[in-house]
Formats: sequence, C-alpha cells, structure tokens
Amino acid sequence: MGWTRTMPVERILARSRSGDGSEDGGGDGRGTPLKRTLKARDLVGFGVGIIIGTGIFTLAGVEAQQHAGPAVTLSFLIGAVVAGLAAVCYAELASSVPTAGSAYTYAFATLGEVFAWIIGWDLLLEFGLGLAVVSRSWSGYLASLFGLPTEWFGEDATVNVGAVLIIAVLTVVAVAGIQQSARLTNLLVLVKLAVCVLILAVGVFYIDPANLQPFIPPAQAPEGGGSVFTQPIISGVFGLAPTVFGVGGMLTAAAVVFFAYTGFEALANLGEEAKRPNRDLKIGLLGALAICAVLYVGVSLVLTGMVPYTEIDTGAPLASAFAGVGLPWVGALIALGAVTGLTSVMMVELVTIGRIGFAMGRDGLLPKAIGTAHPRWGTPHRMTIIGGVVCAVIAAFTPITALADMVSIGALSAMIIVAIAVPVLRRTRPDLDRPFRVPFSPVVPAITAIACLYLMLNLNLDTWIRFVGWLLLGLVVYAVYGRRHSFLAREEREGSGAGRDRD
Ligand code: ALA
Repeated sequence: MGWTRTMPVERILARSRSGDGSEDGGGDGRGTPLKRTLKARDLVGFGVGIIIGTGIFTLAGVEAQQHAGPAVTLSFLIGAVVAGLAAVCYAELASSVPTAGSAYTYAFATLGEVFAWIIGWDLLLEFGLGLAVVSRSWSGYLASLFGLPTEWFGEDATVNVGAVLIIAVLTVVAVAGIQQSARLTNLLVLVKLAVCVLILAVGVFYIDPANLQPFIPPAQAPEGGGSVFTQPIISGVFGLAPTVFGVGGMLTAAAVVFFAYTGFEALANLGEEAKRPNRDLKIGLLGALAICAVLYVGVSLVLTGMVPYTEIDTGAPLASAFAGVGLPWVGALIALGAVTGLTSVMMVELVTIGRIGFAMGRDGLLPKAIGTAHPRWGTPHRMTIIGGVVCAVIAAFTPITALADMVSIGALSAMIIVAIAVPVLRRTRPDLDRPFRVPFSPVVPAITAIACLYLMLNLNLDTWIRFVGWLLLGLVVYAVYGRRHSFLAREEREGSGAGRDRD
C-alpha cells in the first residue's frame, strides 16, 4: 500500500461527476462540477490552438540552421509519428477514463499514487514552462510588429514586460470560463491556420530546389568543439565526438521540435467538459495532430526551400524568408499571425495548468482548496491564478533557450507513462468500456514508449540534469505533503470508506 495505492476507475469517475470529490454526487454541496459544454469541433480547435505555435514559427528555423538543414522536415515527420503513437495511447485512456488530469489520472488508476503525483508534477513543468517560452516569443513578435523597445519586450530584456502582461490578461480570461476560452481560441486558431495556408500557397512558388541539396547536410564538428553538457546524452554514452548536422543532427532536431507537437495531450484534460467524451476526445486528439503534422512538414519544406539553411534568420524565420524574396507584406501578415497564434497556445496552456492542479487538489496531493471549481464560473480559478502568477515570474526573467528543451523532455516522459498505462489497465481492468482501443496492444504501446525514450536520449545532458532535479524536488514535496494528505491516505487512516465525504 502507501505510495503504490491506486484509485479505482469508478471512483475517479464518480468523484469527477460530483465536483467536490465525494462519490455520492453531492456531499455537502460545496463543490461545483466542471461544465460540459465542449463539442468535437471545439476540441479540434483547442488542439490546433495549443499545438501550432513557437515550434513552427521559431524553432523550425532555429533547428534547420543549427542542427538539421533541410532535413528539419524529416525531424518534423519523426516528431509527428511519435506524437501520433502517443496520441493513440492517450485516446484509449481518455475515452475510457474521461476526466480532468489526463496522464495524471491514468497513472492513479494503474501504477499508483506516487507515479500519479510525479506525472502531475511533470505536466505542470511542461505546461508552465511551455507558457513561459511562448509568452516570451509572443513578446518578441509583438515588438517586431509594432517596433516596440526590445529592452522591455525582447530576449535581452532584464524584465520581459510583454510576457508578463499577456499572461496577466489571459489569466483573467481563463478564470472567467471555459466557454469564453473556447470561443476566443477558435477565433485565434482560424487566423493561425489562414497564415499557415498563406505561407504554403505563396511560398511554394519561391522554392529553389538548389537550397534543398544536400537534403541531409554532412555531419560536422560544432563551433568551439562542443561540450559534454551540450551534446545529446546518447552520444555521450557511446563516447562519440559531438557533431551537428548529419543523421545525428536530424535526430537532435526531432527531439527539440517535438516541442512543436506538445500540447495535444491537453485535450485529454477536457474529458469532464466534453459533451460526448467517448467520441469527441478521439476526434479531437487525432484530428488536431493530423492537421498540425501536415502544416509543419509543408511549412518547413517551404522555409528551407526558400532560404539556404545557413542563412535562415533565427529570430523571425518565416517573416524574414518572405521579406527576403521581395514580399514584405506577406512577412508582416505572418508576424501578425504569429502574435495571434501564440496567444491561443498560451490560452490553452493556462487552461490545462488549471485542470491538472484541480485534479491533484481534489485528490489531496495538493491543498484541497485548489481542487474546487468556482461556484459561478465553473472554472478551477485558484490553480489558474497560481499558475498564471508563477509562470509570469518565470517568463519575466528566464531566457527561452533555457526552457524549451525542458518542455520536450517533460512531455516525452509523461507519454512513456501513458503508453505503459494502456496494457496495465487492460490487464487490471479488462471489463472497462473502451470506446477507442489502441490496435495491437501491447506492441504499439511498447513501440511508443521506446520511441519517446529514444527521442529523450537525443536531448543534452544539461536538460537531463535540470529535469531530474525537478523530479527529485517533486518527490520531496510528495514525501512532506501529499503522502499524508492524500484522499487515499486519509481513507486508510480512518478505515475504508470513512474519508469519502470528508475533506
Ligand atoms: N506546441 C506548442 C508550440 O509549438 C507548445 O508552441
């Protein structure tokens, strides 16, 4: 028992229906369930809203120039395959356990409380730092669009005022209600999609095939020789000399641009707010991912076809590419699209932080007050506000480069747990209703877990050290707080069932 205690799926669902964590649908009436208002279309909108962002607008250019050359297109394809595999695993769990908290909740039902806590902690890292990265990149694009001073809005700002302001505004919107967030997100997504289509439709006429040769540039030593901390740990393990470009560079870029796909798992958090979770979550997850994969591969092919990879501007790669071929008006439209597009990414990230904290608070792993929805707005307001404030502080002071790889490693590790949870839950609960089933389990979940681990090994030692540090901190918090305050711990102490309607 203790840290491996699990929460039966029926109890998870009953608790999510009642809203206050009790299982009889009401308790003392303090709690308010989350509202079921989202349709499949809203979920695809949310998915595209959070997926397309800094990954394609900025990282595609950076990685083409620094690691992969034109082969960054292949990096995006590899990322799409791995994200697609993980999405299939998410879809099975999200359709059979449709509740807030996603991977966190699945781990609770299968592997045990401490794994659930670590996953929740890891997802908070992924979405929190993701929000910080994107808010800084948003601030930079805003500055380039309106000529604002970079000492307040750029990467060299001591305090990034633009990042703080946008997080503050979006926190208010997220607290006001999920439906308002869905409407705003759908509107912003349309603008973003239009910009991607514009890039493809115009850019395709400016591709110079010579720029795509060689498609995978030959491997070479990094400038300054490289350090053990900045090379992928898989090279370190095999004692290989650091290189960039070549197949190794393409794989490193694949791990980094995986950032571009992160966020699709946020949809699984909206299970409690979907009108028909069984059907709509599956459509939302796979539909959104497919749309993004097609756009990413197309846009990165256009970018590397328009500009020799050594000359790509890493600040605003797409806008500069069009300005460079004599189409500055297209460049300006793209910058405008980046600003609006990044807004929708941040919106969904903030909404997700609220949902994960809500689920963890409801289970007593975080203070109970965090796990109650606002009586009128029906949103997890406390966690949303805490998340907004913490992320604004991080975004104010921390450079993007220090944060982006952390998002990828956090997302990939959560996906490994999700992949493992699929066959485990099938063995422990064969009776559960599974509207969507992963084909060929356990082979597909096993391939998913190995693929995620392999991408993680292509990230550098620095990132691994910071990530392990965050996980250790999480274990300390669990040992000091969650282990004793959790719902299940209280129940154990008070005798089975006694803790049901208490808090
Ligand atoms: N996937 C999101 C992006 O590319 C986080 O910005």
